[in-house]
Amino acid sequence: MELEIDNLTESLVLLAYTSRIHPELAKDKVKLNCITTTILGQANKNNSTHHITGVLYYGNERFFQCIEGPESAVRELLKTIQKDPRHIELQILVSIKVRNRRFNSWSMKFIHSHPSIQEYFTQAGFNSFTPEKLSKKQMVQLLKTLKHS
Ligand SMILES: Cc1cc2nc3c(=O)[nH]c(=O)nc-3n(C[C@H](O)[C@H](O)[C@H](O)COP(=O)(O)O)c2cc1C
Repeated sequence: MELEIDNLTESLVLLAYTSRIHPELAKDKVKLNCITTTILGQANKNNSTHHITGVLYYGNERFFQCIEGPESAVRELLKTIQKDPRHIELQILVSIKVRNRRFNSWSMKFIHSHPSIQEYFTQAGFNSFTPEKLSKKQMVQLLKTLKHS
């Protein structure tokens, strides 16, 4: 979905994507922990400066990230993240204007493979963590579950 540019006031947008961790990095648990810690450090350092909030989930060798903030900041961050070699196959799932932030308490909440999320996918009828298969309604529910996990 294309973001619309509003020249008068900068809109608040919510963007969600999923990607696969680079296969070389998924193999080694220590390396993986190191990578997620580094990403979170970068997110915590940069996001508050750009009024970005959100959540980053890692599970089933995949990332799911929801980024909220002023449209230009979200666009810039997406460009940076798209170039990051630590993951591949980035697929944008949602890109919408919103009135309110869902993750306003976090510059980037990080969740590593949480049972409540696995349970959510099982109940929704999926065998594994596959956010790209969710309907719009299920995506809203996933964001709620991530907020409270
Ligand atoms: C899955 C994933 C999520 C990321 N999320 C963020 C983020 O929310 N904020 C951020 O600044 N960098 C994030 N990064 C890292 C950026 O791609 C980039 O490496 C970083 O912004 C560079 O920061 P620096 O210029 O301070 O070194 C993410 C990377 C990956 C692979």
